[in-house]
Amino acid sequence: MEDQVEQVVQWLAVARTITVLTGAGVSKESGIPTFRDAMEGLWAEFDPQVLASPEGFRRNPGLVWRWYAARANQAGDVSPNPGHHALARLGELKPVSLITQNVDGLHQRAGSREVLELHGNILRHRCFDQGHPMPIERPWEVEEPPVCPQCGSLARPDVIWFGELLPVDVLERALQASQECHVMLVVGTSGLVQPAASLPHYARETGAHLIEINPDRTPLTRHVDAYLSGPAATVLPHLVAGVEQLLAKQ
Ligand code: APR
Repeated sequence: MEDQVEQVVQWLAVARTITVLTGAGVSKESGIPTFRDAMEGLWAEFDPQVLASPEGFRRNPGLVWRWYAARANQAGDVSPNPGHHALARLGELKPVSLITQNVDGLHQRAGSREVLELHGNILRHRCFDQGHPMPIERPWEVEEPPVCPQCGSLARPDVIWFGELLPVDVLERALQASQECHVMLVVGTSGLVQPAASLPHYARETGAHLIEINPDRTPLTRHVDAYLSGPAATVLPHLVAGVEQLLAKQ
């Protein structure tokens, strides 16, 4: 793998623009459970479609609120890991567009700026009917969704639920970043959820080098130029340190 790392470091060092797509795997070493992993204990009896859909919220807003509040509490409790920090550092060394499917806000907390959050952010809230922003500091201390002062509808987490469309502006910027980059790093995503799963293919079609970092192979693996098998929190710091050294020599 070391030969491949060297090659990837070179691609990154000379790339004019880099796009990174991340998924749940990048937050694994921070201790954030995936959606399904989180459905244990008290929550094991519920169906994800009930907890993460507009219909489920309409039927039982308090239940959905408390499920997301518990996850927001978890996300607030953990810290960004060396993988998040390495990507923030890469953003200081090179022009990087960072696209994430994660809703935990850890990239921003590690210092990455302008993160394109395809699936929203669990720490943000908006009202159900009109989407009015509703800042709520500690949702886990609130038992029922608060009422929007502007329109009277209920607060919900600002995340994308089953059956909902992704925010058009974010998706357009993600598409553009994928089509314009010279190198794309795909980190910790199973590549099963659309439309995020298509972004690496757009990058590849427009001639970018495609690199995947994941301990396990995915449907994308056979299409990439380099596959670096391992945890993001180990591989990313190693790669970015290499880029930094190479740039320092130039
Ligand atoms: N480092 C890098 N990758 C890892 C690590 C790690 N330490 N540990 C696990 N992985 C990989 C797994 O091998 C898997 O391929 O991370 C991937 C996680 O896959 P998913 O749980 O399917 O997460 P993701 O691809 O982000 O899911 C996309 O689906 O659940 C919905 O909306 C949710 O945004 C999420 C979307």
